[in-house]
Amino acid sequence: MLFMKVPRKKAEEARRKIVSGGIYAEGYKAFHDEQHVYFPVLHAVEGYGTIEMEGEKFERVKGLRELLAGILTDEELENLVTSYDLVGDIAIIEIPDELESKQKQIADAVLKTNKRLKVVAKKLGRVDSEFRVRPLKAIAGENRTETTYVEHGCRMRLDVAKVYFSIRLSNERKRIAELVKPGEHILALFAGVGPFPLVIAKKQPNTNIVAIELNPEGVRYMRENVRLNKNKNITVESGDAREIVFGKYRGFADRILMPLPRSAETFLDVAFAGARDGCMVHIYNFAPIENPYADIEKRIAEEAKKAGAKAEIVNRKIVRPYAPKIVQVVVDFRIKKA
Ligand SMILES: C[S@@+](CC[C@H](N)C(=O)[O-])C[C@H]1O[C@@H](n2cnc3c(N)ncnc32)[C@H](O)[C@@H]1O
Repeated sequence: MLFMKVPRKKAEEARRKIVSGGIYAEGYKAFHDEQHVYFPVLHAVEGYGTIEMEGEKFERVKGLRELLAGILTDEELENLVTSYDLVGDIAIIEIPDELESKQKQIADAVLKTNKRLKVVAKKLGRVDSEFRVRPLKAIAGENRTETTYVEHGCRMRLDVAKVYFSIRLSNERKRIAELVKPGEHILALFAGVGPFPLVIAKKQPNTNIVAIELNPEGVRYMRENVRLNKNKNITVESGDAREIVFGKYRGFADRILMPLPRSAETFLDVAFAGARDGCMVHIYNFAPIENPYADIEKRIAEEAKKAGAKAEIVNRKIVRPYAPKIVQVVVDFRIKKA
């Protein structure tokens, strides 16, 4: 997706221009950093810079304002976030603290806006740091947080309150699956409920994939998902990626996936140990939008030196906006061991 980069002071003028010109990519979120606003657009516009990255699609809640008109004040309606993440048949919403007393009415109204929805769950508290799980509670519809999500022809069972799952890496999973060649040995580190291994195995069944996950709930769902999709080429390993790779998979991989953007760089030694000569590594990282690759590429060079190997950067790209001024990036690099 293409984003048009506009200085903040000129954002409103530019927004009007692209909306009236039919160039705004409807259904995708704009985002900003300190100096710029980034609008999703269908094509470049003369006089403005653009950057390419994954667009964040959102489900706009149609009719919610009308449903809540008698329940919330105009000011409360203004503060309400009218979009949600949809995982399977579960909508995940954020309720501002000041609207907590009216959360049941809000969630019931959200449920009425979309027939596909069976559960509305509310975000509670902070994301746990090790398993990356966000505490959630079902507050309308059926009382559950387990669901089935379908992506690129793969069915995945998961519990949104017990495991990490992001619908926003869907294009990235497809991109990686399309790079994989028959016969590859793949180490899928930090595999969660298995979306990367499942999408790769569907596209390229003639591969040998080892998927490693620390969260026992993630491991349980990944095993279920491997059965559900009748995969024969995924081995699920439960435990710490470092211990498992150093213990069983030294020199195993032609390709290594590292989707742990907060701290994957601390596992680069694991990647160098698990790699065969010529192995391709895909490492994900959160980074400042103004200079997104410098830190991670420096770490890759340092770890290559320690391992007595070489790392050749093959591709780098911004995957998606993450927070104000912060983006998620991926760097693809090849390890030369000889
Ligand atoms: C950001 S999530 C990515 C999950 C999955 N790849 C996806 O795209 O949905 C990172 C995952 O790594 C797991 N994890 C964290 N530390 C780990 C470790 N040392 N070894 C194996 N898995 C780990 C977490 O439990 C979490 O499920």
